[in-house]
Amino acid sequence: MSVLVVGASGKTGGRVVAQLLARGTEVRAMVRRREAAATLEGLGAQSVVADLSYDVSYALGGCEAVIFTAGAELAGDPEAVHYRGAVRLIEAAELQGIDRFILVSSLGTSYAERLPEPLRPYLEAKRKAEAALGASTLAYTIVKPGNLTDDAGTGRLELAATLERVGTIPRDDVAAIITELLLRDLGLRKSFEVVSGDIPLADALATL
Ligand SMILES: NC(=O)c1ccc[n+]([C@@H]2O[C@H](COP(=O)([O-])OP(=O)(O)OC[C@H]3O[C@@H](n4cnc5c(N)ncnc54)[C@H](OP(=O)(O)O)[C@@H]3O)[C@@H](O)[C@H]2O)c1
Repeated sequence: MSVLVVGASGKTGGRVVAQLLARGTEVRAMVRRREAAATLEGLGAQSVVADLSYDVSYALGGCEAVIFTAGAELAGDPEAVHYRGAVRLIEAAELQGIDRFILVSSLGTSYAERLPEPLRPYLEAKRKAEAALGASTLAYTIVKPGNLTDDAGTGRLELAATLERVGTIPRDDVAAIITELLLRDLGLRKSFEVVSGDIPLADALATL
């Protein structure tokens, strides 16, 4: 299986690339900058240079799954990456018959309109992407983590379609969730919020 990781030069995307490679999965790292491509190739990934602001359909050719981990500065135009960019990928995946699509969204999208700027437009853009993916024909999973940290992963989670609390989660654990969802074919057409908790990762994902 060859997997396109979008946002591969980012903190979460880089961890996804590393974890998938460690599990023997072929990875195509989508990046905007050639220097980033070289770094990821050094880890064993293939690379493709593409920008979500423009056509990205060529980046998906031959892949069997797409993982969206891209992020944008809160101060910028969140729709460009989080909504229009995500929709470009969703439409390209549908056209090319690439069924599996994992979207990193965010906890809080369900009440985005109640949040202050700049969170509100960012989370509203992500909510629109969730809706577009939910309305697609794809075998999607939408992962909605709490605030991301660079702490070491704990492998322990709390997840639910809607959590009753906010919280944090290490990027290591988000990458581990994505890797398990993909390689064990879990969470199809599911959307869930997730923060660090007490339940071992495999057990938590088995409840989906
Ligand atoms: N930060 C949080 O607390 C939090 C909480 C919940 C959810 N999330 C979501 O979790 C995901 C990962 O977040 P992160 O903080 O780990 O990411 P990050 O380190 O900020 O990385 C973002 C990635 O997106 C890429 N990117 C930005 N604009 C792009 C474009 N136009 N075309 C293609 N790639 C583009 C960046 O590429 P360059 O290297 O070229 O800039 C980078 O690889 C994001 O979707 C974010 O919204 C974040």
